[in-house]
Amino acid sequence: MSVPMSVSVDPTSVDPNHHQSAPAPASSVAQDKQDKQDKGEELRPHAEDAFAVELAALAAQDDRPRPARWRMSPWAVATYLLGGMLPDGTVITPKYVGPRRIVEVAVTTLATDRALLLLGVPGTAKTWVSEHLAAAVSGDSTLLVQGTAGTPEEAIRYGWNYAQLLAHGPSRDALVPSPVMRAMAEGMTARVEELTRIPADVQDSLITILSEKSLPIPELGSEVQAVRGFNLIATANDRDRGVNDLSSALRRRFNTVVLPLPESADAEVDIVSRRVDQIGRSLDLPAVPDGVDEIRRVVTVFRELRDGVTADGRTKLKSPSGTLSTAEAISVVTNGLALAAHFGDGVLRAGDVAAGILGAVVRDPAADRVIWQEYLEAVVRERDGWKDFYRACREVSA
Ligand SMILES: Nc1ncnc2c1ncn2[C@@H]1O[C@H](COP(=O)(O)OP(=O)(O)OP(=O)(O)O)[C@@H](O)[C@H]1O
Ligand SMILES: [Mg+2]
Repeated sequence: MSVPMSVSVDPTSVDPNHHQSAPAPASSVAQDKQDKQDKGEELRPHAEDAFAVELAALAAQDDRPRPARWRMSPWAVATYLLGGMLPDGTVITPKYVGPRRIVEVAVTTLATDRALLLLGVPGTAKTWVSEHLAAAVSGDSTLLVQGTAGTPEEAIRYGWNYAQLLAHGPSRDALVPSPVMRAMAEGMTARVEELTRIPADVQDSLITILSEKSLPIPELGSEVQAVRGFNLIATANDRDRGVNDLSSALRRRFNTVVLPLPESADAEVDIVSRRVDQIGRSLDLPAVPDGVDEIRRVVTVFRELRDGVTADGRTKLKSPSGTLSTAEAISVVTNGLALAAHFGDGVLRAGDVAAGILGAVVRDPAADRVIWQEYLEAVVRERDGWKDFYRACREVSA
């Protein structure tokens, strides 16, 4: 028996960690969220709120065919991610900096009956791309399951509101749908973060959902059938491989797109500068003019140590145990900017980023420290124009 499900649940009740609590009245939650948005108080607005103007402009000017329930065409989704200019002059800022083809393949996958798996080393923007894809395709990036070793099956299928269940027995009212169930019923994009951290048997509850496009509810003798527009984006970290490898049955339900590290230093400097600027504004950090030279040095250090060779290819280096990802470079520079703004002279200097770099490089206090010292003495010290940087690093390393 297939019962069409009308899901009108309060957004707070789909939090996988709170699936047993009694829902708060939906209207007050929505109002509260609206108030905070109006005041610009949210620490980190969702993509669909932060870029609402761009998304609305894209949807309005997009005359290409849209898949069922998509807010815009695949072309417009790709433009939203990669950036561009619309006919009326609206500038779409690039969200993802990387090969266009990767974005095109990812977007196209979402318009097929296969789900999308974003794979890559840490800090390659898997979560970031997944959020922006969901925001552009469905206008909602919040139908999210965070994968951990403790993720229960209810977080992917559904749970129960136990007060209701005990009082009235199993019914649609007592059922607390997971974000995935809501996405199926409403034809939206669901997201699963860190899929390979989820225990294998829980992961497998996705197989029926992705192949049959249906989620059985045996307690009610019914099911939820996915409507058109439903799809799922999962992310997984290369480094976690082997933790809970995807079963081959599940892997076959996904198109895998691997997100690469930034191909050049220029691209990475560009990514770091853009994100630092955005984050700095959202944190109300006083503006620090043109820190691009310092950003370039941070990126150079990270890339050289990551690649195990200096940028000119001349000197081989040992790589430390940390990942030294673009994401870490972003946080080192953000911290540096805060230091410069609050305790320095308002200019980003070597001394503001040195401690952050040390923290990112030296994860293992013994082995990594030796690698760092060797790099400082053999490479940084000899480099033209890097004297201040060398001194600042020596100071914090002592
Ligand atoms: N190619 C890129 N284009 C734009 N932003 C990028 C790129 N690479 C990294 N970033 C930035 O790096 C930050 C971290 O990205 P994100 O958290 O999505 O990484 P991740 O791949 O999910 O990492 P993890 O495996 O640790 O979960 C984001 O702020 C994102 O903007
Ligand atoms: Mg992530």
